[in-house]
Amino acid sequence: MKLPIYLDYQATTPCDPRVVEKMLPFFTETFGNAHSVTHSFGWQAEEAVELAREQVADLIGAEAKEITFTSGATESNNLAIKGLARFYGTRKNHIVTVATEHKCVLEAAARLEREGYEVSVLGVKPDGLVDLAELETAITERTLLVSVMGVNNEIGVIQPLAEIGALCRAKGAFFHSDGAQALGKIPLDVEAMSLDLLSLSGHKLYGPKGIGALYVRRKPRIRLAAEMDGGGQERGIRSGTLATPLIVGFGEACRIAKIEMEEEGKRLKRLRDRLYQGIAGRLEGVSLNGSADKRIPGNLNLSFAWVEGDQLLRGLTDVAVSTGSACSAATLEPSYVLRALGLNSELAHASLRIGLGRFTTEQEVDFAIDSIVGAVERQRAQSPLWALHLEGSELVDR
Ligand SMILES: Cc1ncc(COP(=O)(O)O)c(C=O)c1O
Repeated sequence: MKLPIYLDYQATTPCDPRVVEKMLPFFTETFGNAHSVTHSFGWQAEEAVELAREQVADLIGAEAKEITFTSGATESNNLAIKGLARFYGTRKNHIVTVATEHKCVLEAAARLEREGYEVSVLGVKPDGLVDLAELETAITERTLLVSVMGVNNEIGVIQPLAEIGALCRAKGAFFHSDGAQALGKIPLDVEAMSLDLLSLSGHKLYGPKGIGALYVRRKPRIRLAAEMDGGGQERGIRSGTLATPLIVGFGEACRIAKIEMEEEGKRLKRLRDRLYQGIAGRLEGVSLNGSADKRIPGNLNLSFAWVEGDQLLRGLTDVAVSTGSACSAATLEPSYVLRALGLNSELAHASLRIGLGRFTTEQEVDFAIDSIVGAVERQRAQSPLWALHLEGSELVDR
């Protein structure tokens, strides 16, 4: 087993070697510009791009023409939210989103708010899921767009997209979802989920970084104002030369995911449950953040009581996980996602996001159990909070 072991698959995934193999010729022999229409170099590149477009579309039940390639989910989210608002925003100017969304959704909405749009940011239930009744009340006749992510990047919970989509349809609002963490992890179907816009990213499903896509519904046709001016590629929505090697890799990653997603999910769930039982069976004061069942198989987000949160990661040098806290400059902010579930600041700090994926082995999981349990025990041995807890339980025992 090679150390350190990687258990941060929600941050990014390694490229699958099959993906890399498909990409390589497009850096060298088949290097043409897919927009060159006058020679075979261009035609070959264009053909590869169009195949990838079909592979991406196929994974979400869309048509190839409905896929616009971008640089990733950040760009897709910005294009979807701001592009829609700027195209249609004079008739309806209200946007509904959720407190646990990725920053790029929240910040895109915040920018529109500064420009005069009305934005409602809904809270979530303690299990991290959207309250459908609250959402229904929030959508008014002035609501242009509802944006709710498919799967949360910190706690891995799966939002009820089909129910949300049906609500939006019934109330005449467009429905956008950030599908970065959902693609290739759960079945996505733009028809069954009544999705109008869906943001996708390559590097969360074993494809390369720097590539993503936006699904834009064609029937009825959704219009967007472009973010960038330029050569008018991608039907005018996204100017710029297409990144052929990355697009080919993204397409291949989607093709593989479609075939392997179900089996991979079962394997990851077994490993994830083994990890959870291994940790929670040996330590008291461990809580799981986010719904236990409406959750992707490869994610655990755990809080550890009686631990000084900022110390937790220091003891975990051989296991790459992330903390529920985001370091910004000099301050250590507790995760706003965990805070939205109702966790207090101490517990939000003392949390780990553990992401398992395609290349995670049972041996690695067992190593992670020992490492995490050991790190928490060492922290507790030095923690006044733990000492107080022990005293408290002795008093109760007597
Ligand atoms: C839910 C979610 N949305 C958006 C993004 C941003 O995606 P990208 O890195 O492709 O811009 C990420 C990745 O960090 C994410 O997890």
